[in-house]
Amino acid sequence: MTSPRSTGDGKPVTARAAANAGARIISVGGGKGGVGKSFMVANVATCLARAGHRVIVVDCDLEGANLHTVVGAHAPVASLADFVAQRVDDLGKLVFDTPIDGLQLIAGTHANLSEAQPTHLRRVRLMRALRRLQADFVILDLGAGVHSAVLDYFLVADDGLVVCSPEPTSVENAYTFLRAAFYRRMRLAMVGHGVRKLVTTAMDQRNEHGMRTPLDLLREIESIDSADGARFVQTMREFRPRVVINNVRTAEDIKLGFAVCSVCRKYFGIDAEYLGYVNQDEDVRLSVANRKPLVEYRPKSDASIYLQRIARKLAGSRPPSQRVAASAPAAGSPAP
Ligand SMILES: Nc1ncnc2c1ncn2[C@@H]1O[C@H](COP(=O)(O)OP(=O)(O)OP(=O)(O)O)[C@@H](O)[C@H]1O
Ligand SMILES: [Mg+2]
Repeated sequence: MTSPRSTGDGKPVTARAAANAGARIISVGGGKGGVGKSFMVANVATCLARAGHRVIVVDCDLEGANLHTVVGAHAPVASLADFVAQRVDDLGKLVFDTPIDGLQLIAGTHANLSEAQPTHLRRVRLMRALRRLQADFVILDLGAGVHSAVLDYFLVADDGLVVCSPEPTSVENAYTFLRAAFYRRMRLAMVGHGVRKLVTTAMDQRNEHGMRTPLDLLREIESIDSADGARFVQTMREFRPRVVINNVRTAEDIKLGFAVCSVCRKYFGIDAEYLGYVNQDEDVRLSVANRKPLVEYRPKSDASIYLQRIARKLAGSRPPSQRVAASAPAAGSPAP
């Protein structure tokens, strides 16, 4: 068993943590199961930790928690499930060391599966607590699907990564995920800007104005010409998901990332960024069996080099945060 570690661990606190700027939150989702979300989280986190950042990975997939295994840690005695069930109030007490220096873990094990998803209010508390963790990067491993909890974790992050495999089902699920995230963001943005009426009006005009896509809706709201509407549209346009294609085998597979981003622009008016790709590598299976992330197990492999590139881009680029306020919508409001 590893022991919990707090700030007083003798390690130098890096500039970001020292400045109390709050951890940068990166969420990794994608709609479909088995596309490599946990693989991406473990490996990108390891690269960031190796580069000297303090990193905490969080297994938000309470129904299928396995991130502890992918980072080579034993299942800790306490996990995020204890925070969700209100058995533990201090998220910091759920942070455990991993065998990788600079990389810590909040596991998702021991959940009571009948109540695995936190209530909205608990989620809001969790999001605030995540940002207060003593780390440079907090990386959230999301479950599959488009449950409102998954979407909220995705939207609260500064960077949202969508992992997609080059299979039609995965691409389809990635679009479903992005569309659901877009509408969820819209609901969150409406609370802050008081534009609910504008959206309702725009939606009501759907048939008359031939609105078929989220982009049509944004254009309609923009044309209504109000300060609230303009702010709302701006919030929506700040949504910048980043796309990673995993399990790449051919040159065509690599091009898929550009196609996904171009669909995002065309239908959502979203400026998605193609962050990179990772090839399919047989050694991934061996690395998991050896309880080491690939970038530790085979650091010189092509896949590891692509993963390091993705991590460098994430650490280097500081686009304006895409996150929306964690306080909205009001508790008890229905999921989209
Ligand atoms: N680039 C790759 N090359 C080869 N195998 C890979 C690659 N990426 C992931 N895998 C393997 O694919 C399987 C699924 O990966 P992973 O568990 O990371 O997916 P996931 O999206 O987190 O799934 P879930 O939605 O069930 O949590 C694992 O066995 C993993 O080792
Ligand atoms: Mg997973």
